[in-house]
Amino acid sequence: MERIDPWGSIDIKDYGKLSKEFGIKPFKEILFRIKKPSLYMRRNIIYGHKDFWIILDAINKKQKFAMLTGLMPSGKFHLGHKVIADQIIYYQRLGAQCYITVADIESYLTRNIPLDQAYKLAINEYLLNYIALGLKPKNVHFYFQSNGSKEYMNLSKYVSKKINFNEVKAIYGDISPGKLISALTQVADILYPQLKENKGPKPVIVPVGFDQLPHINFTRDIALRMKKEYNFILPSATFNKFMPSLQGTIKMSTSAPESYIALTDDEKTVRNKIIKYAFSGGRATIKEHREKGGNPDIDVSYQYLTFLEESDAKLKKIYYDYKDGKLLTSELKEILINKLNSFLKKHQQNREKAKKVLHKYILKD
Ligand code: TRP
Repeated sequence: MERIDPWGSIDIKDYGKLSKEFGIKPFKEILFRIKKPSLYMRRNIIYGHKDFWIILDAINKKQKFAMLTGLMPSGKFHLGHKVIADQIIYYQRLGAQCYITVADIESYLTRNIPLDQAYKLAINEYLLNYIALGLKPKNVHFYFQSNGSKEYMNLSKYVSKKINFNEVKAIYGDISPGKLISALTQVADILYPQLKENKGPKPVIVPVGFDQLPHINFTRDIALRMKKEYNFILPSATFNKFMPSLQGTIKMSTSAPESYIALTDDEKTVRNKIIKYAFSGGRATIKEHREKGGNPDIDVSYQYLTFLEESDAKLKKIYYDYKDGKLLTSELKEILINKLNSFLKKHQQNREKAKKVLHKYILKD
């Protein structure tokens, strides 16, 4: 069986195979039950889930539920991060209470990022962009791992009582004490919305990328064993595929600016990055491309459009035009550049406006 290292670089060749091995259910099997699926749901970008039916029931019966997810403040906010942000906003619009945790303890323990720097990154890179993307202050609980409630802090220690070292090893391999503390802190994050102080127990959805899978399994094992004391409902989760790096590898890397488009990149930078780096599924010559067609399935510009282009009809046309050789790589790149730059222009204006309302999200209780 494969092991996923949530702190290491990850390379997933086959999301389907991995899902099977880890007991993740295909999301598309429940898609038909969702009234207004998001773009990521429709496009199978949200690929797998655990117990999403609990959330569906809550939505359909108009019962309270919560969304919790976390961010690792390590650098610039890029398109890969936007995938999670959009999901947060999707659940907020469905009426979820939104818990967003800044994993500053984790980034200090595992990446050596000082807490004051993590604070600035969390606000300027993450929160501002979330607001610009549409996050509203209502029902948002934005907190830092280093500054949680007393019950939360205690919970992060109590959870250790429910597991032994062999189980830790089976899930994470040989990890450092710092990583183990980070994992236990994340378990407390995920269970936090269900504490008495938050009027739990309640259904909680945790939207994450595939790399967080070990933490979800770890949390669910522990939650089950704490049922007697806390009466937790097993947290639900969805797992999204990553938006690939410009080079076409599995995901963008915060430490390599040529691998991503940041939401603060200017027009020229976007254009240069796409033209210079976006991996092409086109043929060696125009003549050959016209004759044999390109391969949209490996073409990064096309892949990006699957995350960005709302219209299914437009996307489909691009797919077949490229496959049939009607659309050249340079033209496909131009479609993406225009799409991105018109989105970013508006987004960056919204980000400026967001600075004025920041206090509504962080100065609460
Ligand atoms: N470990 C996550 C990351 O690397 C951050 C995180 C901390 C998190 N607590 C969480 C994610 C709870 C989801 C739920 O990005």
